[in-house]
Amino acid sequence: MHSKDIVACVVGARPNFVKMGPILRGIEACAPNVQTRLIHTGQHYDDAMSDSFFRQLGLPHPDVHLSVGSGRQGEQTAKILDSYERWLLDCEQTPAATLVVGDVNSTVGCALASAKLQIPVIHVEAGLRSFDRRMPEEINRVVTDAISELLLVSEPSGRVNLLKEGKPDESIRLCGNVMIDVLRSQLDAATALDPLRKMGLTENQYAVWTMHRPSNVDDPEQLRRFVDAMIQISQPLPVVFPVHPRTRNRLETLGLWQTLEATSTILATDPLSYHELLGLTSKAKVIITDSGGLQEEATALEIPCLTLRENTERPITVDEGTSVLVGHDVGLLVKLVNDVIENKFKQGKCPQLWDGSAGRRVGTEVATFLASRKKLS
Ligand code: UD1
Repeated sequence: MHSKDIVACVVGARPNFVKMGPILRGIEACAPNVQTRLIHTGQHYDDAMSDSFFRQLGLPHPDVHLSVGSGRQGEQTAKILDSYERWLLDCEQTPAATLVVGDVNSTVGCALASAKLQIPVIHVEAGLRSFDRRMPEEINRVVTDAISELLLVSEPSGRVNLLKEGKPDESIRLCGNVMIDVLRSQLDAATALDPLRKMGLTENQYAVWTMHRPSNVDDPEQLRRFVDAMIQISQPLPVVFPVHPRTRNRLETLGLWQTLEATSTILATDPLSYHELLGLTSKAKVIITDSGGLQEEATALEIPCLTLRENTERPITVDEGTSVLVGHDVGLLVKLVNDVIENKFKQGKCPQLWDGSAGRRVGTEVATFLASRKKLS
């Protein structure tokens, strides 16, 4: 009997978990000759950062768990590369391709292991560029795209960047944004959870703040300035602050965690589940964040987004969407929040192909890619 092609689909960190559901379903629906294997590297491992996403988003239990855990950039990436290579060498049926998403260390580690064994790499969310190599994610994006054979892009800038880097046009396909598939399919469940009531908040009368990038949280003076600005902002507009483990650690070291806990207008919480966070963001007055995913979700939800970054690899959220880059300028941050409160902030529109069907397009492209490789061999 003719066996199906295996595509190994890699997840490792929180944003990957959100994106993988529609990809697996899209492959199942549109690539009948493909069977997926879900590989979890273990980059994120605790319930709040990993397991709750699997439960809420209906992801299958991973077929393989590499349990790499935390570590320095090079150390973590090396562990991922090593353990995934071992799995590729030992597994019963060698995958026809490895599919990786986004820009985290798991993305580049598994892409490298796969490409070195001549197993083609498919990159979902390819071509995004901040042009800022100080960010580990930018290095991960550039390296992953350089060794990927099929590049599935979420916004037109992805194609432009990849063509400039010499990638052949036929290897690039615009599929839209799989993260927005999830948002659209889970919005009712998120609203039904009613996190506003549990937190004592009123629709359209609070801000959601998230921040975890090393450039924002690792410099004590910068972190202090953000905390001061957010305390000021929270006077007219209460702030919900789900705190990433890295940020919590820094705040505690500087004694700022106690300051935040003593501020009644800031609600600092542990990291939230997908439904809790979406329930909150979808009814917020403004989102203040350095997360790539939240910038995109704010654009899809048409909620103003003040992005705490000097640059963005997702320019469509600024050019067409609801985001404005604030960088480290806390004065600008306070001013723009006031603009939002006074309804003087810009309007955005939802980008092309952020329509809930990106996963199916990914599935179709995967099927076409594998079929054309078979023809060639
Ligand atoms: C990673 C991604 C980043 C993404 C973010 C989402 C890279 C280079 N960065 O950054 O792009 O936006 O995930 O969260 O891959 N920790 C826990 N529990 C966990 C996982 C981590 O407590 O389940 C703590 C550990 O102390 C760890 C720290 O969080 O050292 C940072 O985790 P790590 O995976 O290294 O990077 P993130 O900052 O989460």
